[in-house]
Amino acid sequence: MELKSLIDKTNIPQHIAIIMDGNGRWAKQQGEDRIFGHHEGVNSVREIVEACGEIGVKFLTLYAFSTENWNRPKDEVNALMELLVATISLETPNLHKQGVKLHTIGDIESLPESCQKELQESISITKDNTRVNLILALSYSSKWEIMNAVKKIAIQVESGTIKVKDVNNTLMDKMLTTSKFPDPELMIRTSGEHRISNFLLWQLAYAEFYFTDTLWPDFRKDDFFKAILAYQKRERRFGLTGEQIQN
Ligand code: IPE
Ligand code: IPE
Ligand code: MG
Repeated sequence: MELKSLIDKTNIPQHIAIIMDGNGRWAKQQGEDRIFGHHEGVNSVREIVEACGEIGVKFLTLYAFSTENWNRPKDEVNALMELLVATISLETPNLHKQGVKLHTIGDIESLPESCQKELQESISITKDNTRVNLILALSYSSKWEIMNAVKKIAIQVESGTIKVKDVNNTLMDKMLTTSKFPDPELMIRTSGEHRISNFLLWQLAYAEFYFTDTLWPDFRKDDFFKAILAYQKRERRFGLTGEQIQN
């Protein structure tokens, strides 16, 4: 039986966030260079974006490059940046055709100009699409994002625009780079690592976590559908009791 057909269409997460991990180990297993794994990982991205359109996931956030990843060997960082430019340029027509709207979160100004240019172009081409919102986290770290939000709020308090009593969860949500998106209901991490690695610390407060040993280049549509089926079996309680939820 096709896994996709088992999915309950009335309980699809609106927003799924993914830590795409394991490209390097996947390449090593093939006796190849780490970069080869990153290239192969693009095929998984293509499939998962497509799958979101097929089942009606409206927001997909992909952790593509963390602030900490800048500390990797220079060759790998350069190759990742080149891959980003090439992929965006190559995939934009396909994304556009599928009704995907591209967004970015993270310190985009720290990316090479060629990347920024390619991203801006793709964002502008896809700006009117509504089928799937694809959010790429690039040079992203959640502590960086939260710190910036706190600074913006402090400036407003200092200038008297707002009072300390106006600082609440809604204002924090507004100051984050994710202000236009709902919080993810589901966070997936591939490659067997059970950690969050500075990803969406605020926004994942009540997300369901799904971990799989599958390495990112092997993670394809059926693996994604399996994660959604697992999510659909969870009881999301938000601090209430099971009895309260069932009633
Ligand atoms: C994820 O795969 C991609 C990025 C972090 C850019 P890795 O490159 O972290 O692969 P592993 O974890 O070393 O196998
Ligand atoms: C997290 O993966 C970042 C991305 C997937 C872009 P890492 O491979 O960098 O995470 P750690 O260092 O193992 O926690
Ligand atoms: Mg990794």
